[in-house]
Amino acid sequence: MREVRGMSVLITGGGSGIGEGTARHFAARGAKVTISGRRREKLAEVAQSIGPACRAVVGDVTVHADREAMLAAAVEHGGKLDVLVNSAGNMYRQAIADYTEAFLKDAFNTNVISGMMLSSLAVPHLEKTQGAILFLGSIHNRRAYPGASPYATTKAAVEGLTRVMAAELGRRQIRVACVLPGAVPTEINLRAGLFTAEQSAARYAAIANDHALGRTGTDTEIAEAIEYLARAEWVTGVALEVDGGLGLGVSSF
Ligand SMILES: NC(=O)c1ccc[n+]([C@@H]2O[C@H](COP(=O)([O-])OP(=O)(O)OC[C@H]3O[C@@H](n4cnc5c(N)ncnc54)[C@H](OP(=O)(O)O)[C@@H]3O)[C@@H](O)[C@H]2O)c1
Repeated sequence: MREVRGMSVLITGGGSGIGEGTARHFAARGAKVTISGRRREKLAEVAQSIGPACRAVVGDVTVHADREAMLAAAVEHGGKLDVLVNSAGNMYRQAIADYTEAFLKDAFNTNVISGMMLSSLAVPHLEKTQGAILFLGSIHNRRAYPGASPYATTKAAVEGLTRVMAAELGRRQIRVACVLPGAVPTEINLRAGLFTAEQSAARYAAIANDHALGRTGTDTEIAEAIEYLARAEWVTGVALEVDGGLGLGVSSF
């Protein structure tokens, strides 16, 4: 297993939720972390509370120049790049009867294409360190939630591209994997304008019961899985379910 100490890790979407938890987790174990996102103040707040191990770079993952700037900042901050964590993403819900092309394109652009393009840019750096590209998939690929087809299909794409990237980059000693989290209370649904804070809390409370373990997860529990995938030198191409048993489809029948 690789040591986390001394790693240089770029985490998109590092200003909140799972990305923020991952940044805190790696920094606490001696990594240099670079976090990115669009909200300057949010990022600055997180970076300041983590301390000098963390650098924040404001940018939009859908913009090519911003992706280049994120990568350059991570390489400068950490002196190299060992791990790219593609955590930036949005929730996209739309009923099938209401599909609009612009909405679906935005979903795929943000949740799939941006991570693919950033990964492409990162390859020369990761080749030097025999590093890893990690994605956030979702248990939406194991459970079908009506209304969530745009989001679910982006996460299915992430799982598919993980396998092909792993196959293509393996001989260059770059590993690729994704984590499929169950429900982890974050601001993702609030940012999408889907629910109020109260509604979001109520929904997470309700879905807790669908997990075999009877509760939702934490960003730290996802960060622990990301740490494992970043360190495990003979693991590539996997989709690791870290979901408290949500994907089992437990039924009381
Ligand atoms: N929470 C869950 O239950 C769950 C379950 C399965 C998978 N996931 C996945 O885990 C990842 C993290 O989600 P989360 O739950 O931690 O939600 P979150 O707290 O909302 O984090 C997502 C982050 O992505 C950033 N982001 C979104 N669009 C961006 C863009 N165009 N450019 C740059 N940054 C962008 C957001 O920051 P800005 O708005 O400041 O840019 C935000 O900080 C996502 O890929 C999500 O699909 C979450």
